[in-house]
Amino acid sequence: MSTQPFLDQVVLITGAGGGLGRSHALLLASLGAKILVNDPGVAVDGRGSGVRPAEETVELIRRAGGEAIADFNGVETEEGARAMVESALRGFGGLQAVINNAGILRDVSFRKQSAADWEQVLAVHLDGSRHVTKAAWETFCSQGYGRVLFTTSASGLYGNFGQSNYGAAKLGIVGLMNSLKEEGAKFGIKLNAIAPMARSRMTEGILPPEILQRLDPKEVSPVVAYLASTACAVNGQCWAVGAGRVARVAIVETEGWRAPPEKVWGAEDIAANLEKITDLQGAEALSNLMEASAKLFQK
Ligand code: NAI
Repeated sequence: MSTQPFLDQVVLITGAGGGLGRSHALLLASLGAKILVNDPGVAVDGRGSGVRPAEETVELIRRAGGEAIADFNGVETEEGARAMVESALRGFGGLQAVINNAGILRDVSFRKQSAADWEQVLAVHLDGSRHVTKAAWETFCSQGYGRVLFTTSASGLYGNFGQSNYGAAKLGIVGLMNSLKEEGAKFGIKLNAIAPMARSRMTEGILPPEILQRLDPKEVSPVVAYLASTACAVNGQCWAVGAGRVARVAIVETEGWRAPPEKVWGAEDIAANLEKITDLQGAEALSNLMEASAKLFQK
């Protein structure tokens, strides 16, 4: 990659007023990108609002010689998403990449969770990722190029106590990406996801201080820079990123057990073949529904 791989490119980053989003914005701006810095400046739980977080990111970029515009819309409405894309198109004359990073937390055990705690978290993470991607989609399709980055989480991929709303939203994002990678490929659009681990106000109360100390957001952003660039060679992948480690995460299917032909089989066969059904040795990541259905009839 050249030293300015994003020269003449416009990148929209949601939730870029702090934490990981700001780190991505500063790195991409230093690599030549013009950044639409979106952030309504809400608290971790999504309440309140403020212009300073987005404005400060813009100031930091400009002070370093880069170009940026602040936007204060929320990602959870289609209108907000359309407005931020229009702002990028009007202000910079184009759009090459969208980084869906905005997020909130409403951690609570399932027993105590209200419908509002559920809906608001899904609205920001899942609906928001959909709305912003959708708002950029026509531009990407008609120019035959686009990069979309989603932000998922180990919480959704693996589970975490008190985060059923967040986990559902974060894995929903992976489902959204899985379908869109099929639709976007013929238009030159690549969509990938990161599951980051980084120090931010979001993780302050969750991870122990000695771990947090080793989780600089700057150790996540280079991966964003790669996946959002023209050089990106993968589509529809999810990567775990943090503390200088980058690894692919995949949903896999085991070799499995096949009922002998003509045999009438029942629950007792499942119990007898549990090992074969669940053993991950030789498990495979399948690339789409067609591959998954073909697998059923493979010899
Ligand atoms: P953060 O709280 O510092 O950043 C989130 C940003 O999103 C905030 O600036 C907030 O104002 C903004 N935001 C909230 N609601 C919004 C809305 N409706 N529209 C636009 N912006 C909105 O937290 P952090 O850690 O930087 O999180 C960034 C992303 O990374 C989130 O999606 C989070 O779920 C995800 N993530 C972070 C992890 C970590 O270790 N920090 C772990 C896994 C995922």
